[in-house]
Amino acid sequence: MSAEAFVKAAENRRTIYKLGKNAPVSDAKIEELVNAAILNVPSSFNTQSTRLVVLLKEEHERLWDITASTFEGLVATGAVPEETFKNQTLPKIQMFKAAYGTILFYEDPAHIKGFQEKFAAFKDHFEPWADHSNAMHQYFLWTALESVGFGANLQHYNPLINAPVAEQWKLPTDWRLVAQMVFGSPEAPAGEKAQKPIEERVKIFGKQ
Ligand SMILES: Cc1cc2nc3c(=O)[nH]c(=O)nc-3n(C[C@H](O)[C@H](O)[C@H](O)COP(=O)(O)O)c2cc1C
Repeated sequence: MSAEAFVKAAENRRTIYKLGKNAPVSDAKIEELVNAAILNVPSSFNTQSTRLVVLLKEEHERLWDITASTFEGLVATGAVPEETFKNQTLPKIQMFKAAYGTILFYEDPAHIKGFQEKFAAFKDHFEPWADHSNAMHQYFLWTALESVGFGANLQHYNPLINAPVAEQWKLPTDWRLVAQMVFGSPEAPAGEKAQKPIEERVKIFGKQ
């Protein structure tokens, strides 16, 4: 692949909130992309601690129903004001539910522990490095999904939903949920994005 094609794919990756259920590719293609992320994204010391859970169609809708009921529980205890839930949280959750799928990005701490013991000098680095690698999986899939015609956005309802989600899909309870990527047919363009000056953000030394 040319560098230009790679940059085009990066430019095409944007946050798209309004998503629908018309998948531009088959579920098998989605699976292929997810497997490609797992196989090709690097991890520190090759720990391979990232875990991906893909929820499609009804399973995806169940995730957002679980998120809504979790918030209803918080409203009942007074932790979240009912107005905030009704006017802000619920409309957002309904918008996510209208999409085609969600990818849950996890870290399995069991695969980090051994490295922390073996390389004690780097002990405190393994968790942030695991998050870096997890984020690379997110970026890979965000870009890949949008390159095949989906739109996507990244959400963080963890840790609120961790326990009911683990229970629903029988996932190991020690897996740490890092992010949720909602994807579906793009139903509205991305918003405007302001860019800070490149000169403030990039320094090059030794350029011809
Ligand atoms: C690490 C990270 C965390 C983010 N968390 C959220 C989030 O919780 N909710 C959300 O709506 N967008 C989230 N975003 C999306 C950013 O707001 C968005 O990427 C940024 O405004 C740039 O817009 P673009 O994605 O269209 O390029 C996150 C992005 C990154 C990289």
